[in-house]
Amino acid sequence: MADTRFPQATGTMGQPYRRYEALEKVNGSATYASDVKLAKTAHAYLLTSRIGRGVIRSLDLVEARAIPGVIEILTHQTVGESIRQTQALYTGGYVADSVRPLGSAEIAYWGQPIAMVLAESYEIAREAARKIGVSYDVSEPASSFDSAGVDMTALEPMNLGVGDFKAAYANAAVKIDARYSTPVQHHNAMELFATQCVWDGNRLTVYEPGQYLNNIKYGLAEQLGIDPELIRVVNPYVGGAFGAKGFLTQRTALVAIAARRIGRPVKLVATREQGFFLSAYRAETRHHVQLAADSTGRLIASSHEGWEVTSRADVLALGGNAITLRLYGCPNIEGRVNVAKTDRSTPGFMRGPGEVPYAFAFECALDELAYALKMDPVELRRVNDTKVEPIAGLPYTSRSLMQCFDAAGAAFGWAGKTAAPGSMRDGDWLLGWGCAAAFYPTQAGNSAARVRLSSDGRVHVSSAGHELGQGMYTMMAQVASEQLGVPIEHVTVSLGDTDLPPTIVAGGSAGTASLAPAIMSACDAIRRRLQTGGSPAADVMTAMRASGLGNIEEFAETRAHGLPPESVQGMYRGRVAMSGGVHLPDRVQLAFGAQFVEVRIHARTRELRVSRAVGAFAAGRIINPRTAHGQLVGGMIWGISSALHEQTEIDERNASYINANLADYLLPVNADIADVQAIMVPEEDNLVNAAGVKGVGEVGTVGMAAAIANAVYHATGKRLRDLPLRIEHVLEEV
Ligand code: MOS
Repeated sequence: MADTRFPQATGTMGQPYRRYEALEKVNGSATYASDVKLAKTAHAYLLTSRIGRGVIRSLDLVEARAIPGVIEILTHQTVGESIRQTQALYTGGYVADSVRPLGSAEIAYWGQPIAMVLAESYEIAREAARKIGVSYDVSEPASSFDSAGVDMTALEPMNLGVGDFKAAYANAAVKIDARYSTPVQHHNAMELFATQCVWDGNRLTVYEPGQYLNNIKYGLAEQLGIDPELIRVVNPYVGGAFGAKGFLTQRTALVAIAARRIGRPVKLVATREQGFFLSAYRAETRHHVQLAADSTGRLIASSHEGWEVTSRADVLALGGNAITLRLYGCPNIEGRVNVAKTDRSTPGFMRGPGEVPYAFAFECALDELAYALKMDPVELRRVNDTKVEPIAGLPYTSRSLMQCFDAAGAAFGWAGKTAAPGSMRDGDWLLGWGCAAAFYPTQAGNSAARVRLSSDGRVHVSSAGHELGQGMYTMMAQVASEQLGVPIEHVTVSLGDTDLPPTIVAGGSAGTASLAPAIMSACDAIRRRLQTGGSPAADVMTAMRASGLGNIEEFAETRAHGLPPESVQGMYRGRVAMSGGVHLPDRVQLAFGAQFVEVRIHARTRELRVSRAVGAFAAGRIINPRTAHGQLVGGMIWGISSALHEQTEIDERNASYINANLADYLLPVNADIADVQAIMVPEEDNLVNAAGVKGVGEVGTVGMAAAIANAVYHATGKRLRDLPLRIEHVLEEV
């Protein structure tokens, strides 16, 4: 039987090569940001706010300064205006949270940095930070949706719809109306939020894990008021990111300023707890979904309204209903998005940012509708499958949703399901089977790359791309290897350095879709110079030797479909311009998948387990099935975790988090994850981008929570609409 993990391997692009940087990672020689050894480093420790909202009345530094080894302490009194106010990402700027670091005595959220101690060692800096006396004037913070003082705003520009939802819904024969919620969650990547800064005269080098080095470079230049060309950001390895290392946080400018003031390199490694406040997270959401169908299951009306939490300072709205409401054919649609401004740090992107919570609500609602119709949930999706999105009538570039349902359903054994809730049992265990769709927008940004071919047959490919563990090095090597017809062993790769040609943020599952076309374009240019007729099959090396040249180096930049010409210059300045998904004027681009799970609930103890999960995904061309498979399985596991384990608990009294540590924040261990299978369904899409890549970074985690909740209903007859799903929620049911 064919290995379903490795389909459609034709050329170098498509082969399951081992990771380019595997050896370095395994033997420990891969240098992460905090591993870089600089001479005479001073160590930084952040003191952070212990109130949720208010003003610092006084800071007493006397005792802290008296500790031997303390070099300097930065506070709002000594930093203040020296870091310039800059715009948040969401309004066209760079920073992920627009509260200025140590900018004033105002406290906008619990965990906000209020001082940075610099000392000869980490331990001294930490001890001194704990000796700082702080008094506050405290105001009552709004911690979440239901707090007093929360500012709830309907974002009318995000309204969407077609037809007349209200009339169609009112008159429909079969309908459901349900509310769902998802919790706060934090990424907790293994690598902490580290930054090292070193000045050489007026030149600054920053070592920091990031998903968009040029965002750090240009944003930091703006904050410090210096020429961006004086800043270099270096980051060849990232120990997990998932959106939390996407954009400039408060810490970087503080470390840069500290290093300039004391004339020494400064190293900050924020603690695990501080990481809960220092960077992006998945904020809690609420949903109201109404669906109506005719007796054959055809959707007549669908509505999805979302409520999201953001900060007082910045409006981040993910609006995942822009996709859920376009997944299936339906003539009457309505969608709305609301945000609640709270006294918390600005949330941000976390793997499938809008898709994960909105898919949970919508794909659960669809399952509820299937039961109301007494219809198989897979068949309900088949009846409503569509080749055009229902709001503007735009064509999908390709759509393999039902192929995914069929592939995963067959591998799972879905045909053996008995429909009635509580009807399947294995000894003491109640069995439940559930499924849901997965989807993710196919996006891309602009990119640049440089490729050098040497007469000895070696190829070097470079770009300021990012290796987050997803396989960027390997992908870059594979694309150059195939395009120039040289063995992959002869290809070397440089990335993670702003001195290299820029590429867009490694986010939105768009890294490969953005960068592979630029590498292909540079290889094209090499072939043109060698006059090989432009065919990858032509013998580039024969032409190279005949040319008498030592090296040919070509630089190329590519602009993604749907982006305006000026966006190319924006990419050089670290701007975020991505296009695709449901935001193009001429077409819709989505990757699809289907998630199937079996849950087991113990009849007496109510222990709740996902015993099997099978996902099938169609995401255009898969350049490396090994790394793609890792992404998909990892996404599915995170989906299980987000359904059953992860929740950051809010302390309503002060808008802090009760479990901001790895002991209390529940993450699955191996024993929690049983049998997880990811199938790659072959799909060809030559429209999305020159590489035909849709991206697999996020689609694997979307829909998993809904599949699990749907399976819990099938096992127990109890419909759980609030994540995470825990034993106590299934206690009374038989
Ligand atoms: Mo991702 S949440 O696009 O890093």
